[in-house]
Amino acid sequence: MDNHTIIQPETRYCGILDAIDTTMEAPAEEPQRQYYYMAKSREIIKEKELEYGRHLRANVTTFGCQMNAKDSEKLRGILEAIGYRQTESEEADLVLYNTCTVRENANLKVYGHLGLLSNLKKKNPHMIIGLCGCMMQEPEVVEKLRKSYRFVNLVFGTHNIYKFAELLYEVLERQLHAEQMQQSPGKTDMVIDIWKDTAQIVEALPADRTYSFKCGVNIMYGCNNFCTYCIVPYVRGRERSRRPEDILCEVEQLAKDGVKEVMLLGQNVNSYGKNLTKGFSMDNHTRNSAMTGLGEPVSFAELLRMVEQVPGIERIRFMTSHPKDLSDELIAVMKHSEKICNHLHLPLQSGSSRILKKMNRRYTKEQYLELAAKLRREIPDLSITTDIIVGFPGETEEDFQETLDVVRQVRFDSAFTFIYSKRTGTPAAVMEDQVPEDVVKDRFNRLLALVQSISQEMAMRVEGQTLPVLVESVNDHDDTLVTGRLSNNLLVHFPGTEELIGRIVNVHLTECKGFYYMGEITS
Ligand code: 5AD
Ligand code: SF4
Repeated sequence: MDNHTIIQPETRYCGILDAIDTTMEAPAEEPQRQYYYMAKSREIIKEKELEYGRHLRANVTTFGCQMNAKDSEKLRGILEAIGYRQTESEEADLVLYNTCTVRENANLKVYGHLGLLSNLKKKNPHMIIGLCGCMMQEPEVVEKLRKSYRFVNLVFGTHNIYKFAELLYEVLERQLHAEQMQQSPGKTDMVIDIWKDTAQIVEALPADRTYSFKCGVNIMYGCNNFCTYCIVPYVRGRERSRRPEDILCEVEQLAKDGVKEVMLLGQNVNSYGKNLTKGFSMDNHTRNSAMTGLGEPVSFAELLRMVEQVPGIERIRFMTSHPKDLSDELIAVMKHSEKICNHLHLPLQSGSSRILKKMNRRYTKEQYLELAAKLRREIPDLSITTDIIVGFPGETEEDFQETLDVVRQVRFDSAFTFIYSKRTGTPAAVMEDQVPEDVVKDRFNRLLALVQSISQEMAMRVEGQTLPVLVESVNDHDDTLVTGRLSNNLLVHFPGTEELIGRIVNVHLTECKGFYYMGEITS
């Protein structure tokens, strides 16, 4: 099998689903219960295939971060096991939006798209429209959908995505019932299932990986930090770490499937393991993997060491690190590792200690600078990237100058810059001195210009060197080129063919073009 052949998941899960007796009652335990509902839904989908004379198509659209991208892989896996074929088009039998709510414009985008979907649904009343993810955890959003977007069939949140098969089955059943009653399937009641929080982590559900050679791996869910601008702790719940043996089991399986690069995912990976206790209770976790004899809580640095031992894994990335929790132990592990990439994403948010305090970030400008200097000293070729928010309530020109100062001193390899967005329910939303829009825009533009000019200079650092590149795709604009990533996350384009996808090759970095490189393969 070549590197980028993805096995048709129906084939992958056929055996498991065929063995399920769907005439029995649903099992209570997970994940068996979900496999049962996948089998039940598959029966309905098979009937629909016969009726329509074609396969049914599903579109899963992801808004937001890597966490959501990973959740979408799980949702696609479930859909494929049920028998849906994936499509990029929204003219599909099922459209599922996995939403984001970190900034207001993410919300607005979803409402905009929903308008288009309502027109598509007028043409195809059988179409199932589902919404899930962070935005659904906001009660006012669900209320609005209930009142004004009645064509939506299914709404669920972040804590119960593992229940997708069960919820979808309910939608399919309601549609069948409506048809039997000679009512329009487009008019069935919305299935809504939102949980406030959960302690449960359900393992061993299907996933349809987007790439054959790299994959995100959740190591923890939720966030306990409550930065005052951020809605994530409210919509993703409290921190829950996955058991190390479950993580390793997944990484080993991925390596066996040909994955070379894993990205360990969590809102704050540096606090991994803090809620894993010795003699760990299994009540909250649905076990699937063989015990590796661990069962002890481990730190993030220790987890990285374990992941490094997995044969076949050649690159390890992780995201996101909170500066307050970044340990010397982690720096040492990164420094001596052959596999951990030369890249650290270390959100700054603001360079002003006064604003950082109001943001509840729990570090000062000086502490951040000290940490960055230590990182540059210990790992000189490390790429440091960051997130910065402009226009937090009460930010003055002096505070903003402090941010520019940190940017100049740390010399970030790149930075995501955001205009502060007021999120209802967060402490910052009710703070006084919200900064006027024109002032924020002006600061944002000045910050962007500085960040970009430094990024370009930093990118030049490796010009002329020959470095390993993981090839990811054929170039979007020129099919005589392929595109891959350096360990420091910079993109490189060089002459090559599709067969190189998924391979790590040495590339001479001939010319830096600002934010990316042109190169020549050497081996
Ligand atoms: N406004 C603007 N940016 C925000 N972020 C989080 N919440 C907000 C908000 N309310 C940014 C932070 C975080 C990134 C993922 O999104 O910089 O690191
Ligand atoms: Fe939001 Fe802060 Fe948690 Fe990051 S660490 S998800 S910014 S609350």
